[in-house]
Amino acid sequence: MSGPPPPPAADQLGPGVLAALADMPDPARSAHADAFEGGLAGALGTRYAVAVNSGTAALHAALFAVGIGPGDEVLVPALTVIMTAAPVVQLGATPVFVDSDPATLDLDYADATSKVTARTRAIVPVHLWGRMGDPATLAAFASLHHLAVVEDAAQAAGTSRAGVVAGTAGSAGCFSMKDGKILWSGEGGFVVSNDAHLAARARAFRGHWLTPPPGDRAQQHLAVNARLAEPLAALAHANLRRLPALLERRRSQSTYLLHALAGARGLSPIRPATDETWNHYSPLLSIALPRPRAFAEHLARIGVPNSTGTFHLIPCDTRPMFAAGARPPCRGAAQILERTLAVVLTDRDDEAVLDRYAAAITHAGSEWNG
Ligand SMILES: Cc1ncc(COP(=O)(O)O)c(C=O)c1O
Repeated sequence: MSGPPPPPAADQLGPGVLAALADMPDPARSAHADAFEGGLAGALGTRYAVAVNSGTAALHAALFAVGIGPGDEVLVPALTVIMTAAPVVQLGATPVFVDSDPATLDLDYADATSKVTARTRAIVPVHLWGRMGDPATLAAFASLHHLAVVEDAAQAAGTSRAGVVAGTAGSAGCFSMKDGKILWSGEGGFVVSNDAHLAARARAFRGHWLTPPPGDRAQQHLAVNARLAEPLAALAHANLRRLPALLERRRSQSTYLLHALAGARGLSPIRPATDETWNHYSPLLSIALPRPRAFAEHLARIGVPNSTGTFHLIPCDTRPMFAAGARPPCRGAAQILERTLAVVLTDRDDEAVLDRYAAAITHAGSEWNG
């Protein structure tokens, strides 16, 4: 198999950033962030986009915008990073962790149903590794229980399922542009929505409620500064313009690596659902070897970055600040994280890097006895 195409040309990234720098300092200026928001809404097909300075801030703003506050409960998959749950807690609400189905990686809706109470206000589906659950099941569940849907699509730019673009399945979609994401700007994030009031509230929240939604007073609510700096907005906009090429790059890198690992002992690729257009964020393999997590950790030590081995991803409900709860642990999420090798890629990883990963994984797998 021939190698992936070269990374999309980076020479278009500079001009916008230089233009933004030339306009600085100007505390009132947001021309690049405004233009980026216009580009995002067009690219994702939503009415509104609100640029912020991280994916965490996007979730914080969106959850505030849908009205989450003290006393509320929010359903959050245990199969996620701490950044999904942290904004829920910062708003005074309680994350209630829901299990995932190891066969599909989608939410376990029987578990979710058992955890709905009179205080449940929202659900935050997380498209971890760019994989998206079934949007029809999500919509039916949310409608039945009258819940807002705030998607954590931090890793899912470019994914869609059954024709529904990740981040547009519910009330609001939240994205990260931290380096390593397919659409990156160093740090950054954004919220997309079709709801004018929600978008206006998210916009107000990112700037200390200084620009309030219609009918509201300035600084009526305590909020945060989460504005995206102009040079980063210009960089993000340049990357948005080459998003199709960045997606193709990730797809071909992932396909190349999985092809190279086709005969590797104890490893089999985890495939997307038949109605899913997956962004290939992280090549995913199921590990059928003794002590699979230790195997992923070993790979990280020998230079193959991956979710569990490098970033120590564990089910969110077992993190120390949440584990004291009386609920039984989410076993499906634990099983998924125990057995999944999610290789971390960036668009700079060329054929030589992918060949090195494939050789290291294959060799380690052939020798691994736990
Ligand atoms: C699934 C998920 N949610 C939320 C976040 C938070 O994004 P950020 O790091 O930009 O705050 C990330 C990124 O690390 C993520 O991967």
